[in-house]
Amino acid sequence: MKMLITGAAGMLAAEVIPKLLEYNHKVIQTDINQRLPNIEALNIADSKEVFQKVESERPDYVFHFAAETDVDLCEKKPEHAFKINTLGTENIVLACKEFAVKLLYISSGAVFSGENLLPYTEFDIPKPVNIYGKSKLQGELIIKDLLSEYFIIRAGWMVGGWEIDKKFVYKIIQQLKEGKKELKVVADKFGSPTFTKDFATNFINVINTKRYGLYHLANKGTCSRYDMALKIVEFMGFKDKVKVNPINSDQFPLPAPRARSEMMCNYKLNLLEFNNMPRWEKSLEEYIEINKDK
Ligand SMILES: NC(=O)c1ccc[n+]([C@@H]2O[C@H](COP(=O)([O-])OP(=O)(O)OC[C@H]3O[C@@H](n4cnc5c(N)ncnc54)[C@H](OP(=O)(O)O)[C@@H]3O)[C@@H](O)[C@H]2O)c1
Repeated sequence: MKMLITGAAGMLAAEVIPKLLEYNHKVIQTDINQRLPNIEALNIADSKEVFQKVESERPDYVFHFAAETDVDLCEKKPEHAFKINTLGTENIVLACKEFAVKLLYISSGAVFSGENLLPYTEFDIPKPVNIYGKSKLQGELIIKDLLSEYFIIRAGWMVGGWEIDKKFVYKIIQQLKEGKKELKVVADKFGSPTFTKDFATNFINVINTKRYGLYHLANKGTCSRYDMALKIVEFMGFKDKVKVNPINSDQFPLPAPRARSEMMCNYKLNLLEFNNMPRWEKSLEEYIEINKDK
């Protein structure tokens, strides 16, 4: 098949693209950020550019990964967030509809309010607490309104790409590399780590079913940021050398509010007996083992 990827310079695409090439798919890589040589310029916020690209390439699928993923920036600049994450998605959706192209959209556990004590399922009602979550949810709703052949797959706290990871895991690893002996990590926010490697392996099985719709695809198990930091320190070999102190999120104020819980379970895949995602601790250990000497 021929896949057109948006956000091809990002963390998730870095794992998905080699997988698709391994399966002999033809891959058109696009992004606003031309970090890598094979990437063609495409700004999803420009509807004309999007239509021209989809019309000229006529892919079987658009894998729409591009987004403004900086949650605090989204809060500070809501117009930017909605322009990229919602209207950018609408541009992709309208082009897919016009040229009868199937769509895969990656959404997020940030669509939930965080009040549930149990991990969220696909059947729970979203109610985002920040602009990033709202802008991603509006993208989901546009897809549901306008398309029938689509997959919306929600991921949890994404981990991958080592040094291109702008999120929590690499921030902790950087502090360890800098020789910090004591870390302060938030212990009252909970989520579901989602390793891009596991996601890349498993989402292909999901879309091959042609059972279109909404899915959660996170690693098995849930944790707090503090739990995760403890495991990072252990797997990096610093267990007896670095102290991890739990703190409350009100001691670490950020521009965007975070839900208490973004914990998710792959409820539909469990019901379909199709949930092959490994536990997050196992994937974290492997991820650190492969990358730690870089
Ligand atoms: N990261 C997470 O924890 C997480 C969790 C759940 C779901 N998701 C979703 O998963 C998808 C992939 O995330 P990721 O972690 O791979 O994100 P990422 O590393 O931030 O990659 C997103 C890519 O999209 C690009 N982009 C931004 N604005 C664009 C525009 N107007 N037109 C075209 N490209 C644009 C970015 O370029 P710049 O770097 O130059 O901005 C970046 O290369 C996103 O849809 C995200 O919302 C992410």
